[in-house]
Amino acid sequence: MTEAILKNVAIIGCGIGRLHIVEGYANHRDKFRVLALCDIDAARLDKLGAEFAVTRLSTSFDEILRMDDVEVIDICTPPGLHYPQILAALEAGKEVVCEKPLAGSLAEVDAIIAAERTARGRVMPIFQYRYGNGIQKAKRIVESGLAGKPYTAVVETAWKRTPAYYAVPWRGRWSTELGGVLLTHAIHLHDMMTYLMGPVEAVFGRIATRVNAIEVEDCAAASLRMASGALVSLAATLGSQQEISRLRFCFEHVTFESGLEPYAPGNDPWQIIPASDSADARIAAALDGWQDVAPRFHSQLGRYHAALTGGTALPVTLADARRALELVTALYHSAESGAEVTLPIGPDHPKYRGWRPRQL
Ligand SMILES: NC(=O)c1ccc[n+]([C@@H]2O[C@H](COP(=O)([O-])OP(=O)(O)OC[C@H]3O[C@@H](n4cnc5c(N)ncnc54)[C@H](O)[C@@H]3O)[C@@H](O)[C@H]2O)c1
Repeated sequence: MTEAILKNVAIIGCGIGRLHIVEGYANHRDKFRVLALCDIDAARLDKLGAEFAVTRLSTSFDEILRMDDVEVIDICTPPGLHYPQILAALEAGKEVVCEKPLAGSLAEVDAIIAAERTARGRVMPIFQYRYGNGIQKAKRIVESGLAGKPYTAVVETAWKRTPAYYAVPWRGRWSTELGGVLLTHAIHLHDMMTYLMGPVEAVFGRIATRVNAIEVEDCAAASLRMASGALVSLAATLGSQQEISRLRFCFEHVTFESGLEPYAPGNDPWQIIPASDSADARIAAALDGWQDVAPRFHSQLGRYHAALTGGTALPVTLADARRALELVTALYHSAESGAEVTLPIGPDHPKYRGWRPRQL
């Protein structure tokens, strides 16, 4: 029996949840219907409902879970709520989409992975920065084996956040944001980096809070060795007066450099600089007939629908979220201990149950 094509979605949290509609579901009206919205802030809920003509509005997450016709629960609440809400949604038999960060520790991610194994639904973490023509062309070249040996990457997340951003009470605190620039902001670019460069093997990291009067870090720098042997440098700040994102990858046969658009660095233009005429020809052949890959939520949610209806692998998986949070764990542990941290990180690691600094 084929699955029904139109999937009924409930969005939980009307902040970034609005962009899931604008960039995602509204571009796929033949695939998804936003049936319900949920937020504990009734005014925000009413406003979003009116904007998109969604009439089923609730301030109760539990009430949404009891709605039999809701198939997908899209969690866009503050980070500290993701873990219990994912487990409750799986328990209710729903498909789950969840914003980053997926959870507050590797132990929680592993518990979600275990719960998914026996659940009816699956969990798709959000990593929308992977989508756009630039990064997707680079991905095709790497996956075709044309890039050759990875040498180095440099990843800069240079964004700006002012006290107004931190007026929202959950932000800036370990107990509710769960981390700072590494967890909340740079996680996107770091995911893009591992998407192209593969797994991380060893990490040395430093963090500092220098831009805003907050608990969590807003500056970070790190040096990584990848499983391939490649070396990677990460720099992240929320104190850049010009906001940019930039990724530069040097492989044996090609160098890639992203555009600078802070919130869509996966979009073209990416520079693709081949090492030779023959590499150029092979890359041109691999990109022949390129089909446009829309940016961000548009593509991630479109591909999600194909996976839901086709029963195929999700475009972003729990393993991807685990890999991102394993890097976060390693970076925080290295920054605190002053030592290099090697991956993988399992249950016997001191930060497996939480990366928060010891004194907090
Ligand atoms: N992927 C991205 O690019 C991106 C961008 C921004 C935020 N985010 C992530 O999305 C999440 C939300 O961030 P935001 O900026 O939208 O925050 P926000 O504070 O603007 O919005 C969160 C909403 O959740 C509501 N809420 C809180 N508790 C709730 C509950 N129990 N049930 C229902 N609603 C509840 C709040 O009232 C609020 O309206 C965070 O995890 C953040 O890291 C991701």
